[in-house]
Amino acid sequence: MSTEQAAGTQTEALLALAERYAAHNYHPLPVVIAEAEGAWVTDVEGTRYLDMLAAYSALNFGHRHPRLVEAAHRQLDRLTLTSRAFHNDTFPVFCRDLAELADKDMVLTMNTGAEAVETAIKTARRWGYDVKGVAPDRAKIVVADGNFHGRTVTIVSFSTDPSAKAGFGPFTPGFEVVAYGDIEALRAAIDEDTVAFLVEPIQGEAGIIVPPEGYLRAARELCTERNVLLMADEIQSGLGRTGTTFACEHEGVVPDVYILGKALGGGIMPLSAVVADRDILGLFRPGEHGSTFGGNPLACAIGIEVIDMLRDGSFQRTSTELGAWLAQALRDAAVPQIAEVRGRGLWIGIELVPEAGEARASCERLMERGILAKDTHETTIRLAPPLCVSRADLEWALERIVDVLATAGS
Ligand SMILES: Cc1ncc(COP(=O)(O)O)c(C=O)c1O
Repeated sequence: MSTEQAAGTQTEALLALAERYAAHNYHPLPVVIAEAEGAWVTDVEGTRYLDMLAAYSALNFGHRHPRLVEAAHRQLDRLTLTSRAFHNDTFPVFCRDLAELADKDMVLTMNTGAEAVETAIKTARRWGYDVKGVAPDRAKIVVADGNFHGRTVTIVSFSTDPSAKAGFGPFTPGFEVVAYGDIEALRAAIDEDTVAFLVEPIQGEAGIIVPPEGYLRAARELCTERNVLLMADEIQSGLGRTGTTFACEHEGVVPDVYILGKALGGGIMPLSAVVADRDILGLFRPGEHGSTFGGNPLACAIGIEVIDMLRDGSFQRTSTELGAWLAQALRDAAVPQIAEVRGRGLWIGIELVPEAGEARASCERLMERGILAKDTHETTIRLAPPLCVSRADLEWALERIVDVLATAGS
């Protein structure tokens, strides 16, 4: 069924329900998805779309990957939750596997990305007081402008996006914002109270912003020199998205703290984690942090499978190869409405020229052509398809993307 036929049907009824009963904290495209498999989704009218957002990288392995669904079913039939009041036979295995994947000693599990970032903030502060010897309540964490680390009050306290903050104060102190990609600004911001530099190796929500070559390496050296933890928020950039298991690998950088989420739960369960060595994560004592569902057996069973799927590097390879091909093909198309194509692997930001109009309008037109992509910051369209997408799918999409953008703003 075409999108025109869909008007006035189930789609409209469900959009009206959402409008009436759901808080308006998002501005979704007007598509109502009912089913999905791999890189493709089907809406309630039976129209198929190529998913080129992959739930902001939570669906790196695609919708309902058979191995992940099978792992979930197996666990669902056996044990779903114990809380951390008791041990279970899945959680420790997941922690070991993830620690080994990241080549670190320990794991602290939570559910959402924002919770993992909160955990990392607490971790850094605790380390600062207990190990670095920062005076009580003086700990400072340096962050980058344009950051996106989640939506809690503490996290939006250091957001530079006015819409994330306005009307939600008072905010949490203890953060200093520096320009992203500017190593001298970071150097100047670090003082004796600085416990950590919290950074996205590539900024996702800001529009797939890749920092200047050498930035992460220089930040690593600076953090080591000044006894500051380098905390990499790899919630969106990690687990294969950029062509490597962790985006920090592109610069050969190993952070002190990895912050992971999204794809860790296979697009089935929320599962996030902070991963670090014992001298950092070992500082937590019982009762100081936790979450009832954090590291539950159902999520962990899926997480174990996710980690196993990352081991042979095939998803990472697909991201590298298809990402390079798609980015080049978009550049080669020489569409005047495209100012820049940037990114790494299958994580691509298309920057539109002002005359192309708002990116949202182009995303709506892409939707009409069977492609689901999302705008960010008015002028950027981001493409982040599941890493199980095929070259044929992308060729199909490319033709439509070029077609839509070549007439954008006219
Ligand atoms: C880099 C980064 N950190 C943290 C988050 C927050 O994750 P969640 O939405 O699961 O709380 C996101 C979500 O987009 C993210 O991209």
